Amino acid sequence: MTPDQLLLPSSFRFGTATAAAQIEGAAEEDGRGPSIWDVFAAEPGRIRGGDTPAVACDHYHRRAEDVRDLADLGVHDYRFSISWSRVLPDGRGTINLPGLDFYSRLVDDLLAAGIRPVPTLYHWDLPQALQSEGGWLSRSTSEAFADYAATMVDALGDRVTTWFTLNEMNVHTLYGHALTDHAPALGMGLDCLPVAHNLLRGHGLAVDAIRAAGPRQQAGVVQQHFPVRAASDSAEDIDAADLFRILTNWTFSDPILSGRYPEDWVAELVLTSAGLTAQQLEDDLVVVSRPLDHYGVNYYEPTLIEAPRPGKDYSGVLEVDFPADMPFRPVRVEGVERTDFDWPVVPSGLTDILVALRERYPDLPPVTVTENGCSYHDSPGPDGAVHDDRRIDYLRAHLHAVADAIAAGVDVRGYYVWSAMDNFEWAAGYAERFGLVHVDHTTQERTRKDSWYWYRDVITRAAG
Ligand code: FCB
Repeated sequence: MTPDQLLLPSSFRFGTATAAAQIEGAAEEDGRGPSIWDVFAAEPGRIRGGDTPAVACDHYHRRAEDVRDLADLGVHDYRFSISWSRVLPDGRGTINLPGLDFYSRLVDDLLAAGIRPVPTLYHWDLPQALQSEGGWLSRSTSEAFADYAATMVDALGDRVTTWFTLNEMNVHTLYGHALTDHAPALGMGLDCLPVAHNLLRGHGLAVDAIRAAGPRQQAGVVQQHFPVRAASDSAEDIDAADLFRILTNWTFSDPILSGRYPEDWVAELVLTSAGLTAQQLEDDLVVVSRPLDHYGVNYYEPTLIEAPRPGKDYSGVLEVDFPADMPFRPVRVEGVERTDFDWPVVPSGLTDILVALRERYPDLPPVTVTENGCSYHDSPGPDGAVHDDRRIDYLRAHLHAVADAIAAGVDVRGYYVWSAMDNFEWAAGYAERFGLVHVDHTTQERTRKDSWYWYRDVITRAAG
């Protein structure tokens, strides 16, 4: 067996993924309203290099060229996200028809190219108008999200049948609401738990909206999952790792897949911080746990946790710089390769988390790996090509990890590379490059990287 021969089912679906705020640009065009990322990026010091998503990859104007790239690549699926404030500039109410039209054309182009469109309704870019009314701290945002979902299914449901509600609620809650690294930068610590609950409730209400459009519609959610390991065998580190795992993984998946919060104390915290009655919480969880057709898992890296050691100098040993009062420290994973974004490369973590999900949830729906990829800074060389061998190694190893999970009995139906093209990597701006296609962010010129050709061959060969 050559390294590129993968033991994947013949029905396996290969794809790529992007998100609206990261590629579209055209931030103020055709009636689009601002999102929390436009506002956040305008604040000095928030984004590396002062970058903003205002132009991004200019995909809004280069849609046809980008779809051609996907068609040539041969992907079965393309996961993109819809900018809520492009369709509903105020978050609710009047539909902005040119905005809706953009997605309708994108869907048509994809279908004409033989690619299944797989939209995510929310990839972190809340309309600023709703943030001004309390954002995800407010229950009414969940309801506005369901109305927006209904609008989209109504507009595209004749051609789109595979939907994802929200992307990575845990990352959005942690980095945007507990901390200040992402929009809307609330920095509330554990007090932000109502955000988690309202995102989960928004998901459930949106599933209802999708289902209401008819039996052909399939609903799912995209979650970031990662194995959490204790840095040592000490009771303190094991407790800290347990706490971190509960708060960052199971608090977001148990309500959906088991209809409950992972621990009574989490439920109690949600209940009191969100000001809910026990009955309300119970009723909400019924909505949150509506059965799903598919479950998206994004995987990048495992997390190694230790309990804070008073007096220890943590400079240079932390994976993420958490505030000192957090009861856990994500310490550096040693002895492994790292991407140019300094993220550890641990393909076996993908197998581990997929197997852990199957073991935790007897009713786990079929899984798609909805994001996996790496940032390497390779650019076109003197020969005009982008020789990103390290990305090829990364993707190959992770596809093998998926095959291992399938061999262990996990029902994985597809794998989407993050990302179709280099794009706006949130707080890291344009410095990080996750794409199979290189984008010159000055000229917008696209160059297919070696990994693009490699992935095309993987897809062709898998078709037999
Ligand atoms: C994920 C996000 C995605 C991208 C990758 C690198 O957490 O969902 O938008 O930024 O990380």
